[in-house]
Formats: sequence, structure tokens, C-alpha cells
Amino acid sequence: PLVPMRLLLDHAAENDYGLAAFNVNNMEQIQAIMEAAQETDSPVIVQASRGARSYSQDNYLRHLMLAAAELYPSIPIVMHQDHGNSPETCKSAIENGFTSVMMDGSLEADGKTPADYDYNVKVTKEVVESAHEQGVSVEGELGCLGSLESGEGEQEDGHGATGTLTHDQLLTDPDEAERFVAETGVDALAVAIGTSHGAYKFTSKPTGSVLAMDRIEEIHRRLPNCHLVMHGSSSVPQELQDIINKYGGELKQTWGVPVEEIQRGIKHGVRKINVDTDNRLAITGAIRKVLMETPEKFDPRDYLKPAREAMKQVCVARMVSFGQAGQA
Ligand code: G3H
Ligand code: 13P
Ligand code: NA
Ligand code: ZN
Repeated sequence: PLVPMRLLLDHAAENDYGLAAFNVNNMEQIQAIMEAAQETDSPVIVQASRGARSYSQDNYLRHLMLAAAELYPSIPIVMHQDHGNSPETCKSAIENGFTSVMMDGSLEADGKTPADYDYNVKVTKEVVESAHEQGVSVEGELGCLGSLESGEGEQEDGHGATGTLTHDQLLTDPDEAERFVAETGVDALAVAIGTSHGAYKFTSKPTGSVLAMDRIEEIHRRLPNCHLVMHGSSSVPQELQDIINKYGGELKQTWGVPVEEIQRGIKHGVRKINVDTDNRLAITGAIRKVLMETPEKFDPRDYLKPAREAMKQVCVARMVSFGQAGQA
């Protein structure tokens, strides 16, 4: 069944594991996640960005999620709005059957300009009040995602702050986190610790100076009962980069968030881990391979099936390493 996210996060906290939240835009991605969940006996968080909702159309997306719930009646599934930019976006998500919403008030409604603390509290609190009345969970975000290597905010894929952010804006302040959770009543808090969206996170394997896992430990000490969320948490595996480049792609060498660092976060209150890029890489590599090796093919199923399978393998791997396998 579709369930509120709070239910799964509470269970994860009680049993010391984390849940991957995978982004979806179409049927094959939902199928990949559900097959991985079935195979590993995992509860599921599926999330759709604003871009995903407009790409897939709300009606298609809603019915695909209802199909997943119907096909897998024993698996609890959360349908989450990723990076809601305003209370209106969160409201329309709830009207479309989402069981959880993110009000990302770390940025203004343009999704670019870093917002001030009071704005963030105001919009997040407004969403919490109406969502909770309807049994829907809410994730907030404090601090701006972006690179501690370059000081750049998010640019790739068009979301996040553009331009240069200060070191303080790139790291969630633990004092502010305490106040924010008390003032808004969020179910989960996304923190900024030096990760960024997309493939190009780090120019070498990250160390503590560019990936501030110690911030998570500090925030968890202050807020032991708060469910923490890590965004920008794809690991960007070398094998997936290599497959794309072997079959005609042109990715620059890059590094993501090592799975061991995420596992360290899970020991310190991280309950939701957002992963999109790894699945994008897996899908693209599989499609490139088929098209390069068998250029005579033109039935979409010939490349979408291997693409779905490649995404499923990424989902299985994350479900196992985050500890959600066996918890459905
Ligand atoms: O927030 C990041 C996810 O990767 C979704 O990306 O906004 O391009 O759909 P998107
Ligand atoms: P990645 O780009 O690292 O997969 O992050 C996805 C994300 O944070 C979605 O909100
Ligand atoms: Na989210
Ligand atoms: Zn994100």
C-alpha cells in the first residue's frame, strides 16, 4: 500500500537502517524499483521532482504508483514530492496522491536563490500544518547543497543555487537545525554537508574536508530523534562511468559519495538517502551498449529492458547496503 513516509522512517530509526529514495519519471523506472524491492524484501520510497511531474504528467504518475501498490500489496510504498519549491507545489502533490512532500525552503521559489531562515521556517511550517492534517509527511531542508571544493551551488540540471555560496551556506548549522525542527515540526530534515546533485560532485575520492560527515554526527547529537536526509547521494560508480564512455559517451572522470560514508551517516540518524544520478547512469549505459552493439535494432523494448534491468541492479545494491533489504 501507499503509506506516509513518517511510518517508514520511524521503523528505520527503530531498526537502525536507511532507505534509498529513488527518483522516477516513467514506467520502467518504477518497475525497476519495485522489482528490486520484491527481490530484496524492501520497503520503498519513490520520489518525483517537479520536472518529473511535468514530464510524466500527474495522472500517469499517480496511476503508475497505484499500479505498483496493486501489484505488490505487501510492500509499503511512499510516493514523495522531491524538492517542492512552494506550498502550492506541495498542495498539488497531495491532491495527486503523494503521501509525503519535501518543502525545500532552503531556496526561494525560483529554486536558485538561497532563502533566509525566516522564509524557510514560514513556508515549511505552512506545509507541515496542512500536510499533517491529511496524514502526509513533510521533509524540510536547511542549508544549501553545493560543493565545498569549488564553493559553487548547484548548477547542473538547473536546480539549486547558482553562483558562489559561502562556506556557511554550504553546511547546515547545528544550532539552526535545532531551532528549525522545533519551529516547523518537520518529519525529516535534509542537511547540507558538501554533496551536490548530478554526476560531478568531487574531483577525487572525497575526504572530510569536502564531505562533512562530522556535521551529521553533530546534528544527530543535538537532535537524536530527528530523521536526517542526505541529498546528492549517488556514488557515481566507476563501472557505470566506464560503460557509458566505452559505448560512445563522453563523461569526464568524476567521484560521488562513497557508500561507506552513507553507511556512516546511517549510524548517525540518516534515514533517507536520495539517489537519482546512479540510476540515470545505469540506464544510459545499458541503452548505449545495445544501440552501439546492435545498430540494426529499433524496437524500444530491446534497449528499455536492459536499461530497466541495469537500474534494478543499482537499486538492489543500494537497498542491501543501506540495510532496508529484509525490512518490508
Ligand atoms: O533533485 C534532483 C533529482 O535528481 C531530480 O532531478 O529535477 O532533473 O528531475 P530533475
Ligand atoms: P544525485 O544526483 O546524487 O542522485 O541526488 C539526487 C537527489 O538528491 C534528488 O533529490
Ligand atoms: Na526530497
Ligand atoms: Zn535533492
